[in-house]
Amino acid sequence: RERTFIAVKPDGVARGLVGEIIARFEKKGFVVVGLKQLTPTKELAEAHYAEHKERPFFGGLVSFITSGPVVAICLEGKGVVAAARLMIGVTNPLASAPGTIRGDYAIDVAKNIIHGSDSVESSTRELKLWFADNELLAVATPNPNLYE
Ligand code: GTP
Ligand code: MG
Repeated sequence: RERTFIAVKPDGVARGLVGEIIARFEKKGFVVVGLKQLTPTKELAEAHYAEHKERPFFGGLVSFITSGPVVAICLEGKGVVAAARLMIGVTNPLASAPGTIRGDYAIDVAKNIIHGSDSVESSTRELKLWFADNELLAVATPNPNLYE
């Protein structure tokens, strides 16, 4: 079964959007198989966003993501990596379609509420960074909408 890594960023947590975000994924049919709240260390944030380390916004990105609690989520379901990205919307919330999470709740590219893995390879790498094996359910509780 496919799994993806989702993080509600510090702005999303501070604005009280965690429940709304989880509700959207659950209603879609995806299953939460890992969930915790933590303030990421600088080391974790830099490793997570390593692909962007030469970008001018890297320093700001790392300081923002480490500025407060993040809710880390592992979601499971058919096609969840790509589907979660569609539900999240494009990076710049001003360009994100209405109905997407960023499209409905954000206006600032640096404070875009939520992260989602951009590929199956990224999800594997990110889940290893953020979760220990024993923090993820080995078997998801079946959702009748998910398991046909
Ligand atoms: P994530 O799910 O957070 O990885 O976002 P993404 O995959 O939609 O975008 P990307 O991985 O390219 O960029 C990672 C994060 O860096 C984005 O979510 C933005 O918050 C931030 N970012 C990307 N581009 C810019 C930019 O041009 N300026 C600023 N200030 N931040 C940016
Ligand atoms: Mg990304």
